[in-house]
Amino acid sequence: MNIAAIATTRRTCKAFDPARKVDPALIEQLKTLLRFAPSSVNSQPWHFIVASSAEGKEKIAATLAGRFEYNAPKVRNASHVVVLCVRRDLDDAHLQALVEQEDRDGRFATPEARETQHNARVFYTTLHRDQLADLPRWTEKQIYIALGSLLFGAAALGIDACPMEGIDAAAIDAALGLEAQGLRCVLLTALGYSGEQDFNAKLPKSRLAEASVISEI
Ligand SMILES: Cc1cc2nc3c(=O)[nH]c(=O)nc-3n(C[C@H](O)[C@H](O)[C@H](O)COP(=O)(O)O)c2cc1C
Repeated sequence: MNIAAIATTRRTCKAFDPARKVDPALIEQLKTLLRFAPSSVNSQPWHFIVASSAEGKEKIAATLAGRFEYNAPKVRNASHVVVLCVRRDLDDAHLQALVEQEDRDGRFATPEARETQHNARVFYTTLHRDQLADLPRWTEKQIYIALGSLLFGAAALGIDACPMEGIDAAAIDAALGLEAQGLRCVLLTALGYSGEQDFNAKLPKSRLAEASVISEI
């Protein structure tokens, strides 16, 4: 398996073929990648909404107006669109749900081990919420780990993708009722297959030279 070949040949899809849909079995694999992405102290501060219906995608596309309008056709023509969201807070109920899941999954040999893990998570959550005052940024960082996994996984499955930060996240929150669910949209990723208008598919990839981004000591 040559994973570098996947990295050097994948491209952001700038225009999807509206007629081509991704096989649901492949979408299930991508959902597994999202769910199993690593996160700091296994905090899993995320929720992923997968839009595959025309109505679902239109709700999102309709928010992409003005300077973000260029991304709307990608949402409409993609096979699936993933809304990558963070939890607005890592509250006690979420922290409790995490430790209970880890317990059910057999990760604790003793009650003390469970306590230690829970306390570590409370410590980091409190550190970011109260001392560093960067809980939203900290949780967003975890989202980008899931994004990396999603993009690489999609490429490995031959699925084209377009991550999108060119969005009005607050408008998406309102359109999907995310605030009431304790969620906040961070970015979108459209999935599908490249269409004829996809100019990026015909362009060579461009990256800085290895020596300027990687050093060895
Ligand atoms: C976090 C993130 C946000 C991005 N937002 C957009 C976007 O809103 N619209 C778009 O067309 N491309 C978007 N891109 C695609 C980048 O422009 C693209 O990844 C970059 O130019 C490198 O090209 P490549 O992915 O084809 O290798 C985004 C990429 C990332 C990683």
